Amino acid sequence: METIKIFSPATVANVACGFDVLGFCLDNVGDEMIIKKTTEKGIKITKIEGYDLPYATSKNVAGVAALALIEHAKPNCGFEIEIYKNIKPGSGIGSSSASASGVVFGINELLEKPYNKTQLTKFAMKGEALASGNEHADNIAPGIFGGFTLVKSLEPLEILELPTPKNLYATIIHPQIEVKTSEARAILPNEIPLKSGITQWANVGSLVHALHTSNYELLGKSLTDVVIEPYRKQLIPYFDDVKKEAIANGALGCGISGSGPSIFILSNGSNAAQKIANAIDLVYSKTNINFNIHISKINTQGIKIL
Ligand code: HSE
Repeated sequence: METIKIFSPATVANVACGFDVLGFCLDNVGDEMIIKKTTEKGIKITKIEGYDLPYATSKNVAGVAALALIEHAKPNCGFEIEIYKNIKPGSGIGSSSASASGVVFGINELLEKPYNKTQLTKFAMKGEALASGNEHADNIAPGIFGGFTLVKSLEPLEILELPTPKNLYATIIHPQIEVKTSEARAILPNEIPLKSGITQWANVGSLVHALHTSNYELLGKSLTDVVIEPYRKQLIPYFDDVKKEAIANGALGCGISGSGPSIFILSNGSNAAQKIANAIDLVYSKTNINFNIHISKINTQGIKIL
């Protein structure tokens, strides 16, 4: 294979209670990339459509992730990358992560898969670090593995794949404002009260149990974040109103997607997801902030070859 075209999906990190460890993958929102083998060694970004991002390999998230892979693989060829971005940078649904994970997935396919998914996650994290200032895998892992993932540890990198209940849908509202991950991390406290820790890890445990048992009610009750949301919600206009309307219209639960500004809502079935979308559309329609709403099944496959 000389060329590959892939779809690299958007992802939701944290999933309320699981800051920096939990994430899930969306199905119909994402970037496309075309990657070509070249005789000239190295990584060259030849096209970027959708958003204004740097072409210089060392300044581009995809470029840095690709470099991390080829520095390890030392292939006898190079790669040209075309990026068709649909996920707005700073949206909270894993824009940088989609670029970083897409490129390493694509190059790995062109090299006849020398690396497993955990190794690919590690390379992609180098790209993610360029965007957010630190290496975290909670957006990358669900893109590469699909479904729900839990980052058990970073050193050594250990990713757990969690089951996805069949009827689970996500509704995402993306207010068109930018929240930089680095800034959304800077406002967080270095220490948390023990009481909050207890609530939070009880919720992570019960969320994992709910995924394993397809217990939608428990899943909803576990989507509570007493550690991060109180700080970050101030960066997201009308967050409480969206949450209130979503719950009133049958949502299982709601939280900030990654570092925001997107908000995710989980529901049992596509009809419920649509009803919630209509309700939160009304909330934001009354404001002067532009927004998009996506409804997506959970994508259990992750990155797809087109
Ligand atoms: N876990 C990360 C955060 C995800 O919330 O800062 C954003 O990239």
